Amino acid sequence: MSSFILTPGSVNIRFGAGSVSQLPEAVAALNKRKVFIITDPGVANAGVLSKVEKILDSAGIAHGSFTEIKPNPTTTLIDTAAKAAVAFGADCLVALGGGSSLDSSKGVALVAANPTFSSAQFNYSITPEHPAIPIIAIPTTSGTGSETNNWGVIDDPVRQCKFYVGDASTTPACAILDPELTLGLPPRPTAGTGIDALTHAIESLTSKGRTPVSAAYAHEAIKLISKSLPTAVKEGSNVEARGDMLLGAHLAGLALTLSGLGLVHGIAHSVSAHVGAAHGEALAAVLAEVMEYNSQAVAPIYATVANDMGVAADSKSAIDAVRSLADDINIRQHLSAFGVTSEMVSDIADTTLADSVTGNNPIAPSKDDVTSIIASRI
Ligand SMILES: [Fe+2]
Repeated sequence: MSSFILTPGSVNIRFGAGSVSQLPEAVAALNKRKVFIITDPGVANAGVLSKVEKILDSAGIAHGSFTEIKPNPTTTLIDTAAKAAVAFGADCLVALGGGSSLDSSKGVALVAANPTFSSAQFNYSITPEHPAIPIIAIPTTSGTGSETNNWGVIDDPVRQCKFYVGDASTTPACAILDPELTLGLPPRPTAGTGIDALTHAIESLTSKGRTPVSAAYAHEAIKLISKSLPTAVKEGSNVEARGDMLLGAHLAGLALTLSGLGLVHGIAHSVSAHVGAAHGEALAAVLAEVMEYNSQAVAPIYATVANDMGVAADSKSAIDAVRSLADDINIRQHLSAFGVTSEMVSDIADTTLADSVTGNNPIAPSKDDVTSIIASRI
C-alpha cells in the first residue's frame, strides 16, 4: 500500500497504514501545543485512545481527553466536553472515532473558542466572535466522511430536533486516515458504514448539486468501495481493503460536501427518527428501490455507476449490483426488521418530504411516490 500526503480544498490529508504516528507533525504544522482529544468509550476501551496518547507523549505534546461521546450526540454533551477542553487550556482538538465524535468536535471547537455561548447557538445563524480552535480528525470508521466538512449533525433536546452545528472555521485542518485504526471494527458496523459511504457517492452523482469535481470524487469512491467492501466485512484485518474503504469514504465525503445527497438519505433519516434504526442499515433497506425510482430520470448516470462497479454499463445492472453487494454483506433488511409498521408509512413519508436533503433528489417525489417506495420495503 502506498502512502501519500495531499491537500484537496482546505483539509490536509495524511493517508496510509501507520499514518497516525504523524500526529505530532500535524500538531506542529498548526503551531499548537495543548491537544484535547474528543472520543467515545468504545474507542477508549479498544486501546486506540492510549495508542494516540503514547504518540503525543513521545513527542512531548501535552494532552487531555473527553471520552464520553455517545451516538446521536446532544448540545448538552457538547457543551460539557467544551468546558473540559477550556479547563485543560486546549488550543487544538483531535476528533478520534466515528461520525459522532467527528461531528461533536465541530461544536466543541466553537464553544471552546467562545465559552460564553452554547453549541445550540452555532447553527450558522450567527458569526462567532472567535473562530473555532483547529480540529485534527482521525476517523476510526469508514462511512460518514465527516472529516471533509464543517458541519456536525447534533440533537438539540430543548428544541427537540436535529440541527447542523458548525461555521466556516470548523472544517478540520487535517485528516489522518490510518486503516490500522479501523481493523477492530466488527462486520456489521463495517457493512453499515460502508453502505453509507457507497450511498454518499451514488446520491452525490445524481444530486441536483452535482458538479464535475464532485462527480470525479464520487466515481473513484464507488470503484474503491465496490471493490473492497465485501473483503473489509469478511476479513476485517485486511489492511488493503480497510485502506480502500477509508479512502473511499473520504472521497465520498468530499463528493457529498460539494453536491448534497438525495431521497435515500431523506427516507433513512426519517426511518431512524421514527424507529431508531442505524443509519447505514436504514439506507441499505431502500437504496436499490430509490435507484429504481430515480432511474426514469438518471439512467445514463447509473450506467456510469455500473461501469465503476465493473458490471455491464447500464442502469439495471447498476441497481442489481448494488442490491447484490448489500445482500453479500448481509446488510439489506426489510424495514419491519427495525419496527416500521404499515401505520407509520404516512408519517415517515411526511418527515422524508420535510427533510431538506430530499430536495436534492433528481426527481421531486410526491407523497404517493415516497409512500409506495417505503411500503414496498415493509
Ligand atoms: Fe449518510
